[in-house]
Amino acid sequence: MVKICCIGAGYVGGPTMAVIALKCPSIEVAVVDISVTRIAAWNSDQLPIYEPGLEDVVKQCRGRNLFFSTDVEEHVSEADIIFVSVNTPTKTRGLGAGKAADLTYWESAARMIADVSKSNKIVVEKSTVPVKTAEAIEKILTHNSKGINYQILSNPEFLAEGTAIEDLFNPDRVLIGGRETPEGRKAVQALKEVYANWVPEDRIITTNLWSAELSKLAANAFLAQRISSVNAISALCEATGANVAEVAFAVGKDTRIGPKFLNASVGFGGSCFQKDILNLVYICECNGLPEVANYWKQVIKINDYQKSRFVTRVVSSMFNTIAGKKIAVLGFAFKKDTGDTRETPAIDVCKGLLGDKAKISIYDPQVTEDQIQRDLAMNKFDWDHPLHLQPMSPTAVKEVSVTWDAYEATRGAHGVCILTEWDEFRKLDYAKIYENMQKPAFVFDGRNVVDPEKLREIGFIVYSIGKPLDPWLKDMPAVAA
Ligand code: NAD
Ligand code: UDX
Repeated sequence: MVKICCIGAGYVGGPTMAVIALKCPSIEVAVVDISVTRIAAWNSDQLPIYEPGLEDVVKQCRGRNLFFSTDVEEHVSEADIIFVSVNTPTKTRGLGAGKAADLTYWESAARMIADVSKSNKIVVEKSTVPVKTAEAIEKILTHNSKGINYQILSNPEFLAEGTAIEDLFNPDRVLIGGRETPEGRKAVQALKEVYANWVPEDRIITTNLWSAELSKLAANAFLAQRISSVNAISALCEATGANVAEVAFAVGKDTRIGPKFLNASVGFGGSCFQKDILNLVYICECNGLPEVANYWKQVIKINDYQKSRFVTRVVSSMFNTIAGKKIAVLGFAFKKDTGDTRETPAIDVCKGLLGDKAKISIYDPQVTEDQIQRDLAMNKFDWDHPLHLQPMSPTAVKEVSVTWDAYEATRGAHGVCILTEWDEFRKLDYAKIYENMQKPAFVFDGRNVVDPEKLREIGFIVYSIGKPLDPWLKDMPAVAA
């Protein structure tokens, strides 16, 4: 029986290994982590992450050929194939701070593999890493090898949160990079055979190591670039009376462009896009390519601009002051169908509103009060370190309250900001919400969830990203002076 061990039981390691276990009953899969609480949650009825379909997959295989454990060394030493799916956050200090990937967790995993291994191993980079990381890992492993042969593969993960199980069941492609040596090719073949249990062969792409590593950074940069492109156009739509939904539809009809990932929003969030683009920028700078670095930096600049111009819209439409006013925030997760708040645009928007002294009442169907308070108290980039290394109980921001009901959050509010596109926000009784709000009542839709005309009929003043402006907003400044 082939044995797989995955180091890192997070958003990638957990679902990916659960699907491998489901699709490959003859493989034993162990997912290990240094976080005791995370592993305990994987072994309980309350999984540590919310992902549609995940619970069902885990229930089918857990205890059969899928195991979650903190016994990292034992499972690593027994495995034939070791996936490394640990955090690769942005460095917060020292050389490359604010841009470069922090490979501390990766390196400590590699050193541990070298320490405990007694037989040949295939080590698979599942984490997103800077191009050429495999070379560094190879050095750590071979310099400590005690005669053991290690083959390093790059097998980046392309799943998106909220659709992880769907994406893993039916991936657009699986990418495997390896050394172009007989041993390298053999290792690539061994991993290919795992995926071939359910992925059609023509969707399994093999490349050299560096192409696989770089493809992951490039794919995320391209996706984020599309969002920044449509968000840049959304600002021009508001200035001219064009409608971004109509523009995106017309543009996306060109088969060379395609319709996906053209939804204007308050900005992209999530644990990957910003981190991976910053990483790409740093690699370009280190390779003497400042023009290329500046090109990609612009994707992040537009994203920051989109979030700050949203806050400016809120403040300027409400007579330039929101001090002491209750603002309801509907949605805190970085996208629908996940409880993940890493780099969610809601953090920057809420901080902007708090900066103007608003009182915020937040409702999100999947995010807890504790998580929201942590996020609002945390320094930039601190979030992407293992949970147990994060500050334990930050002082709660007292101007922020968290409710478990959209109607409660909006009661008595002057304005409502929609920051996540949860389906339930489309179906709310907005007439009832209007009745219980201060007047004039404002809705700022950062996700184009509501029909602005219907809400205007109720009496709301409505701002929707990239849509023709409400007459009320026409004379208000659109960007901060
Ligand atoms: P995560 O924070 O959810 O999980 C990482 C886990 O690794 C944590 O539970 C942490 O405790 C554990 N860990 C860290 N160091 C360890 C060590 N030395 N030994 C054992 N466990 C250790 O992160 P994630 O979202 O799963 O992302 C992991 C990697 O995958 C990152 O490189 C990320 O960029 C990449 N990625 C993420 C996504 C996504 O949607 N989240 C998608 C594709 C790729
Ligand atoms: C992303 C990549 O899609 C995935 O392939 C990679 O493996 C990890 O990073 P993820 O961050 O989970 O996945 O979600 P994604 O669906 O890409 O959304 C990222 C952010 O962009 C979200 O905040 C989302 O709301 C936003 N977005 C997405 C838009 O604002 N407009 C769009 O059209 C699409």
